[in-house]
Amino acid sequence: MKVLVIGGGGREHAIVWKLAQSSRVDKIYCCPGNAGIAELAECIDLSPDDHEGLVNFAKYEWIDITIVGPEDPLSKGIVDAFQKQGLKIMGPEKTAAEIEASKVYAKEFMKKYNIPTAEYRVFTSYLHAEEYVRMKGAPIVIKADGLAAGKGVIVAQTVDEAIEALRKIMKDRAFGSAGDRVVVEECLTGEEASYLVFTDGETILPMASSQDHKRVFDNDQGPNTGGMGAYSPAPVVSPEIEKKIMDQVMKPAIRGLAKEGRKYKGVLYAGLMIKDEQPYVLEFNCRFGDPETQPLLTRLESDLLEVALAISEERLSSVVLEWKPEASVCVVAASGGYPGKYEKGKPIKGLDRVKELDNVVVFHAGTAYNNGQIVTAGGRVLGVTALGKDIKEARDNAYRAIQMIEFEGMHYRKDIASRALNR
Ligand code: AMP
Ligand code: GLY
Repeated sequence: MKVLVIGGGGREHAIVWKLAQSSRVDKIYCCPGNAGIAELAECIDLSPDDHEGLVNFAKYEWIDITIVGPEDPLSKGIVDAFQKQGLKIMGPEKTAAEIEASKVYAKEFMKKYNIPTAEYRVFTSYLHAEEYVRMKGAPIVIKADGLAAGKGVIVAQTVDEAIEALRKIMKDRAFGSAGDRVVVEECLTGEEASYLVFTDGETILPMASSQDHKRVFDNDQGPNTGGMGAYSPAPVVSPEIEKKIMDQVMKPAIRGLAKEGRKYKGVLYAGLMIKDEQPYVLEFNCRFGDPETQPLLTRLESDLLEVALAISEERLSSVVLEWKPEASVCVVAASGGYPGKYEKGKPIKGLDRVKELDNVVVFHAGTAYNNGQIVTAGGRVLGVTALGKDIKEARDNAYRAIQMIEFEGMHYRKDIASRALNR
């Protein structure tokens, strides 16, 4: 079979890597891909937002199924465009993807279906929002309604910081129309976890638990990033908590979306805060997490192609997911300055040596070829991912490998998965 993967980050490299192991996959295309993906797939030079071009490509190349990585094309209706032409694609339709694309919609939906989440208010007026923030005090969380590439959420420790965030979103319009509305919500404390499921709108198959590391520096210091590392399983998600997540979050969400006429097919991701053994939803994402996908897919035993086909054909009940018992840890190597300004084009050394290691895969994120050499081309550059018999061994393997890699300005967190070890 021929598969097309949309996206070009670490998550998509993991998806392509996993698909390449399927005995039923003959050829993989990726749009736009990166230097690592190019070793396994043919990268095509189209924009992930060019839905018409991609539909034509899929028809012309007789693509059997397309798998979408990022939220942007999903929220712009890529699934609708493919399905209209009778093409198979894994991911939610535009109306279902709104669960991620609009934080206001997600909050109102959660309230309607009694899904545990933080208390909140929605504002369209800056003055009313400011008044509310002054009344509530800090810490408090400010969220732009629309997609803002992971930068639209500010966890404000002081009232001044919250007002500065409101000003940036509502007055300076830093995220454009994504800031037409803001959610102001209660700041929750506890431990975060990511919980992802595959669903065809009826059957829900949970993935293994995982945890992301959003802040740029060790001990969760510094600004938020796309994610500096992740591991699976996450011990904070005990079997009791897992049951609560399924009963109180995933089942009501998928049933609720169907009731609203927004049948959800694809991967549904709940970003959770776990406090006193109770999960609260911080956000829903309409896709695989990045970097959570890297540890998750290195642990997945089952064939991802079969899962994707079963979702698009609405027969997921026929699939059994199997997971390796090993743990997996992914440490992200980022460009100097990330998540702020950074330079690109720095040659990456050591990748060949790491290839010789057992149990380690380096997923590329922002990389490109320049004169036959692999160079940096983004903020998050690589996700060094390793398996081990437990988190400690996986973590040791990942850190041993990342130390063999070098590029100018490279930085990475030294404490990925340490929370799992210190429990
Ligand atoms: P989101 O994109 O909504 O997941 O927010 C990004 C990050 O902001 C989350 O992963 C949390 O670290 C943090 N965050 C979001 N909402 C809250 C909240 N209500 N309380 C505390 N932290 C939050
Ligand atoms: N790892 C966070 C995200 O994918 O949104």
